Amino acid sequence: MCGIVGYIGHRDSQNILVEGLKKLEYRGYDSAGIAVYSDEGLVVRKAKGRLAVLEGQLCEEPIAGSAGIGHTRWATHGKPSDVNSHPHTDEKQKISVVHNGIIENYLPLKEELTAKGYTFVSETDTEVIAHLLADLYEGDIVAAVRAAVKRMRGAFGLGVLAESEPDKLVAVRMHSPLIIGLGENENFIASDIPAILEHTRDVYILNDGEMAILTKDGVTLTDLEGGSISRDAYRVEWDLETAEKGGYEHFMLKEIFEQPRAYRDTMSPRIDGNRVVLPDVGLTADIIRGIRRIHIVACGTASHAGLVGKSVIEQLTRIPVETDVASEYRYRDPIITSDTLVIVVSQSGETADTLAALREAKRQGARVLAVTNVVGSSVAREADHVILTMAGPEIAVASTKAYTTMLIAFYLLGLYMAQTLETVTPAYVADTLAAMQKLPEQVEALLGKADLMKKVAEQFKTTENLFFIGRGLDYAAVVEGSLKLKEISYIHSEAYAAGELKHGTLALITEGTPVIALATQEALFEKTLSNIVEVKARGAVVLGIANEGHTELSKTANETLYIPRTLPLLTPALAAVPLQLLAYYTSLARGNDVDKPRNLAKSVTVE
Ligand code: F6R
Repeated sequence: MCGIVGYIGHRDSQNILVEGLKKLEYRGYDSAGIAVYSDEGLVVRKAKGRLAVLEGQLCEEPIAGSAGIGHTRWATHGKPSDVNSHPHTDEKQKISVVHNGIIENYLPLKEELTAKGYTFVSETDTEVIAHLLADLYEGDIVAAVRAAVKRMRGAFGLGVLAESEPDKLVAVRMHSPLIIGLGENENFIASDIPAILEHTRDVYILNDGEMAILTKDGVTLTDLEGGSISRDAYRVEWDLETAEKGGYEHFMLKEIFEQPRAYRDTMSPRIDGNRVVLPDVGLTADIIRGIRRIHIVACGTASHAGLVGKSVIEQLTRIPVETDVASEYRYRDPIITSDTLVIVVSQSGETADTLAALREAKRQGARVLAVTNVVGSSVAREADHVILTMAGPEIAVASTKAYTTMLIAFYLLGLYMAQTLETVTPAYVADTLAAMQKLPEQVEALLGKADLMKKVAEQFKTTENLFFIGRGLDYAAVVEGSLKLKEISYIHSEAYAAGELKHGTLALITEGTPVIALATQEALFEKTLSNIVEVKARGAVVLGIANEGHTELSKTANETLYIPRTLPLLTPALAAVPLQLLAYYTSLARGNDVDKPRNLAKSVTVE
């Protein structure tokens, strides 16, 4: 996830671009750059680091010119560096591109262009677009963009400037957000409204497969074939703070609602037909065949993703997996051998305990694989292999989309190892991938039921104690649901393996105690239902969550939520969503600071 901005008009563009980028830094902040059409032609300035670094450079050496594009980066392909920063240009520096998204077929395109003699200087997928445009350019940048887009697969929001056509700025949207701002003798592009709200409140919101051709005097919208599109401008009525949250009241809610996109971004580049591909991870068949045991080590929510990861990997590969929290692992003298794969999981990639566990594992000779959301983070740099989640920056302290994309990463890893070891059939891999590809729309369906979670939150908001129960993978999922609730609602909550309650904790269930029971594991449904009956008999008020079709649950539970049917292994990626919403609405109902809960920090870099 990155932020792009563009300007064409009657004013100097540099400051408009930089100020716009400041409003988009939440989308990524490992490097930034601008390209401006000046008297000397297209001039590009870009720098690794926060936007302030670029701003310092531009202060010393400003670029004058009234058309430009800018970018703030969240690295996906290639580490944060000056050269990997956007804008990217063709060899002759005549065409400049900013890009948000991922070009899935960038490798074959890169090979093709390299064979034609183009020289690449960066590791990015975006540079491919600049060379492709140069290759296709025959004096009409709009035609070149149209032709290039036909060759590209994946997600992209693009801004393009060509030196020989300084009166045009071209924008395209395909699965990455892009809006057009309409001004007086000036027009804008941006990934998000806040970037241009200072200048205009009238915008076109582009749909996938749409292009905008901007001049200083007007904007033309077309489809990718050039057919014209007419649309009424949308008038933005929000203030800036609301707009940064995309209209959501809190970043947490925005991030919960971003999950369908985050799932797609994390899985789509790694699914090729009926197989999983992990080309940048470097886990060769020989390495996989040599793994005898796996340790998954992480903290907090990331360690809960690891609990799901353990079941997934064990079920798919039959390799034994242990999980541990990083703060314990490093001091408990774990049995690590050279055939141990240690998987460290960390959204930020900077958590001190996780990093220390990684170093301890490496010191003892283990191979380390990191699952992280941040390219270039310490964990990513020090691990032998990295699987990136594509959640995009997570601002709310309570992790949501980073957690669920970690689950997606574990599904991909488990399937990848299993297809290599042939512990499952190709048909099984194909069926599971097909089910995974349905998850984003199933999450959308669950988001549509947010009001039910709001209602339950109202019922539970005055409680001081609450229990979550589940069996098997449902237990792994409720451990995270319980953490989510306690960290932002401040309600004491415990997650229990449903069958374990009767060994002591059942004594705490009294009249009115809320219990959230997750029963998505088909093989265990009846067992969990019996546990629900047990707690109901002691006066519990139960929210039951099960797969669609289990109408018998409604007869037992006080409130029932049905989740769309998927494979048992995948249900945690759906069940997480209502549990996040429940935590969110409960925190809200109690008047808490949802995005910044007390005593906590987003990245815990102390032991
Ligand atoms: C809870 C939460 C934390 C983090 C934990 C590890 O919502 O976000 O429990 O999961 O501090 O952080 P990372 O994943 O950055 O290592």
